[in-house]
Amino acid sequence: MSKPIIILGIESSCDDTAAAVIKDGKLLANIIATQNVHKAFGGVVPELASRAHQQNIIPVVDQALKQAGVNMCELNAIAFTRGPGLMGSLLVGTSFAKAFALGLDIPLIEVNHMQGHILAHFICESDEAQIIKDNENSKNKTPSFPFLCLTVSGGHTQIVLVKNFFDMQIIGETIDDAAGEAFDKAAKIMGIQYPGGPLIDQYAKEGNSKAFSFTKPKVPGLNFSFSGLKTGFMNFINNETAKNPNFIEENKADICASIQQTIIEMLMDKLKLAATQTAISQIAISGGVSANSLLRSTLNQLAQQLGWQVFIPKFEYCTDNAAMIAITGYYKYLNHDFTTQSTTPLPRYALD
Ligand code: KG4
Ligand code: ZN
Repeated sequence: MSKPIIILGIESSCDDTAAAVIKDGKLLANIIATQNVHKAFGGVVPELASRAHQQNIIPVVDQALKQAGVNMCELNAIAFTRGPGLMGSLLVGTSFAKAFALGLDIPLIEVNHMQGHILAHFICESDEAQIIKDNENSKNKTPSFPFLCLTVSGGHTQIVLVKNFFDMQIIGETIDDAAGEAFDKAAKIMGIQYPGGPLIDQYAKEGNSKAFSFTKPKVPGLNFSFSGLKTGFMNFINNETAKNPNFIEENKADICASIQQTIIEMLMDKLKLAATQTAISQIAISGGVSANSLLRSTLNQLAQQLGWQVFIPKFEYCTDNAAMIAITGYYKYLNHDFTTQSTTPLPRYALD
């Protein structure tokens, strides 16, 4: 039997410090320390994020190795998020990965966070990992190439044509705010704490999505724009609360359901257009907003209507995590794609 390939993945691009261990493509441990310090500020405070990463990184890695039952000497390579993300946050993960790889005298693998979100679809918790390694569509549980991936997070909104593990082309993206930002900003306007996306999702479950309507900005082609929606939403809330100071409290569920409906429709309109233009019906979603329950149910409905085959990651692999970095690192390891000790973080790191 050949020696196993064991990869440690490190993620620290924003406000989650995470480490994961993958052995021959199979996930053994996936640890995340979420930073609650930002809640009081209504958004991520970069300096506080870097400090928290510094505190969390060693315990998180330690816990991941322990849970995986792997000794650090057994690791074959360290994969880390090089970007995109916050400079101070990326520096912590990058410096840690470089020092650890140097100390263990093993290769270092840099990972693009957005590529990681897409390859989260190949995270495997069972022995099926071996099948995916051979690049097959493992019992239709993973997308086969080429597929389209709608990556929707707090910092990005992209429609990506995924040709293989390493060749990805952005065919549409936001020209201003990201979809997650639209959720978070709408939440902030309503006085809902950061990150607002999951809470809007929760309140919306009790609300009527047709109660209020918001104008969807018109952007040509496959690109998105969310900043106009935010301004329209803010004006709407200001007007209504001027008439009735209790407007938000009295209508919270309906407002949340209506703004969520608008954001998801905007995403789906462009995704349908992309599928038609590329004639691709393998459709995946990734990134934090793909945890949204309306996005998930709408996508399943569209799959039925349009004959799409859809791929929706498990909740824990939608938001930032290190399993997605480790799996990307694993495929890069198989491809002998290593980086050097002189590597530096790239806060703006293009996917294609
Ligand atoms: O991918 P992610 O964890 O971090 C970034 O790379 O940005 O995404 C975080 C974003 C936040 O904007 C958060 O509000 C949003 O994902 N999000 C959601 C939901 N869960 C997380 N948005 C809507 N509905 C959700 N259930
Ligand atoms: Zn992310």
